[in-house]
Amino acid sequence: MKKFNYYMPTKVFWGRECVKQNGDALRSIGKRALVVTGKRSARASGALDDIAAALGSAAIPFALFDAVEPNPSIATARAAGEAARSFGAEMIVAAGGGSPLDAGKAAAVLACNDCADDDLFRGGFSTPPLPVVAVPTTAGTGSEVTPYSILTDPAKKTKRNLKSERLFPVMAFLNSRYTDSVPPEVTAHTAIDALTHAVEGYCSSRSMPVADALALRSIELVGTELAKLPRGAPGAEGRDNLLFASLLAGCVIAQTGTTVLHAMGYHLTFFHGVEHGRANGLLLAPYLRHVMAGRPDRITAVLASLGWGDLSALETMLRALLKGAIALSPGEVEEYSRVASETAGAASTIPRPGVDDIKSIYAGILRAGS
Ligand SMILES: [Fe+2]
Repeated sequence: MKKFNYYMPTKVFWGRECVKQNGDALRSIGKRALVVTGKRSARASGALDDIAAALGSAAIPFALFDAVEPNPSIATARAAGEAARSFGAEMIVAAGGGSPLDAGKAAAVLACNDCADDDLFRGGFSTPPLPVVAVPTTAGTGSEVTPYSILTDPAKKTKRNLKSERLFPVMAFLNSRYTDSVPPEVTAHTAIDALTHAVEGYCSSRSMPVADALALRSIELVGTELAKLPRGAPGAEGRDNLLFASLLAGCVIAQTGTTVLHAMGYHLTFFHGVEHGRANGLLLAPYLRHVMAGRPDRITAVLASLGWGDLSALETMLRALLKGAIALSPGEVEEYSRVASETAGAASTIPRPGVDDIKSIYAGILRAGS
């Protein structure tokens, strides 16, 4: 077995009512909190009420920043950081899908550091960020256990990854009841996002033994639950399975990062408004065909864990879950492929794709979606 290091410092609390039952744990982190959320899911899921109750029981005053949009911008993270400063927050509680979690992590940095955008993304901040508590309300992001904050940069016209070991949340509370109100389409998209995290980590040049074990279990769980989805919304056990799969996949990419698939998907999200998990799902089959040339043993293991059959069967399943096609012009494909070929994600993809390889993967989307 190859040498490896494994580091995952987040304390994970799992179970229905885990937020309300662990107010005492929050008291050890800080005396004042900024709660960072979007407009909807933290409220609709009941997570915000539970967080307020837990902070109240711990006698921790808090302020609410609820202006995080989907695919949050750097400006939003800066506004949340400023809100934390002006309130004198000693901790951030980030609740919602991946967007509030990522914005909350960046806000934790910006609350105590003045740095330009490029310095921020280089990890060039000297003061340790505020501690972050993460409460996911979707099953897909895995951000509750990763050292990443993915933000949209309008100037660079893509998403950018802020990465630092100091960004691991100190605690994560996972209660699958918060995902009960997630509609079927979003359940599918977020589950596919988790699936791509596990698959990319498992196939990456940065794969490692602990992450491999977590990835295969995550893929198996998502495969089982996605296959049931056309027959109706998941019950409590299914929601647990999807949230657990998302957690495991987050632990995977915390070690391995993602690969060219995510780098390619960011263009579909930024320029075409395609939801993140759906963008990844549309790219998954042609991506796997590319990786087959470099890691056939890994693709065989992925397909066996998914339990859907061969690559063609996987494509059929994804086509049923992801409606509609995306029209990309030749110029767009050329430009997106050039940019994606220069990313760290491309560098960790086996075999390393050149521009023409990436163009072929994008071409595969059009067939899958048509
Ligand atoms: Fe993702």
